[in-house]
Amino acid sequence: MAVSETGRPLYIQVKENLAKLIISGEWPPGIRLASERELTDQLGVSRVTVRNAIQALEEDGLVYRVHGKGTFVAKPKMEMNAHDLISFTSSMLRRGNQPSAQVLEFSRISASRKVAKALEVELGHQVYRVRRLRRANNLPLVIELSFFPRDLCSRLEEVDLAAVSIYHVLYEEMGIQCRKVHQSLEAVAATEEEAQILEVETGFPLMLVERLCYNTDGRVIEFAKDLYRGDCSRFISDLEP
Ligand code: GLP
Repeated sequence: MAVSETGRPLYIQVKENLAKLIISGEWPPGIRLASERELTDQLGVSRVTVRNAIQALEEDGLVYRVHGKGTFVAKPKMEMNAHDLISFTSSMLRRGNQPSAQVLEFSRISASRKVAKALEVELGHQVYRVRRLRRANNLPLVIELSFFPRDLCSRLEEVDLAAVSIYHVLYEEMGIQCRKVHQSLEAVAATEEEAQILEVETGFPLMLVERLCYNTDGRVIEFAKDLYRGDCSRFISDLEP
């Protein structure tokens, strides 16, 4: 295998140079990369090196191949740590993305059987139902549907949920902190209504993340169903024994 001056495989260096062009926006999402043969000539490296570099870019989600058409620059993915207890706002800001929220629904309802079971409250217990579209850098990324027990989270009725972080309000103003999460991830297809909100086509792949958040006393403070756009979300996990 060819190596660069630094002793690393040459294809890694080629991959990193191409990745820089993508990350800087010089090669914007959707543009087609030159063919393997053209890149071989332009970069003055072997075809195998180019092939390996492109494969590495594909593994990192920076490009994708369309059979018979070529290799294209992918949309950048928003990374979410699957093990984070933090809010959407914090998770986006931490990675340098600008979060925002649009309230699609806010209502006070009597818990249905399913919601009551999830929140571990009596059937008919008063809960808030909050549905928001969350954007990252203006990109419609996720529809969050959350249920909060009213007896614990009454402050939510008084704040502008388009302008605040719910977790921030719960912690700073009510001393409620999410300390444990039980969560599942599942691939689903967008309904017509979800597709419209997320600006994709009906049937588009989404990731459904269902969460139960527990406070320090072990009480469920949130039952959430978040629908992330599959084309621009990536969930990462750091696991240690
Ligand atoms: C994350 C969680 C949601 C939670 C939201 C609160 O996205 N998955 O369950 O409702 O954060 O976000 P924020 O505090 O920014 O309103």
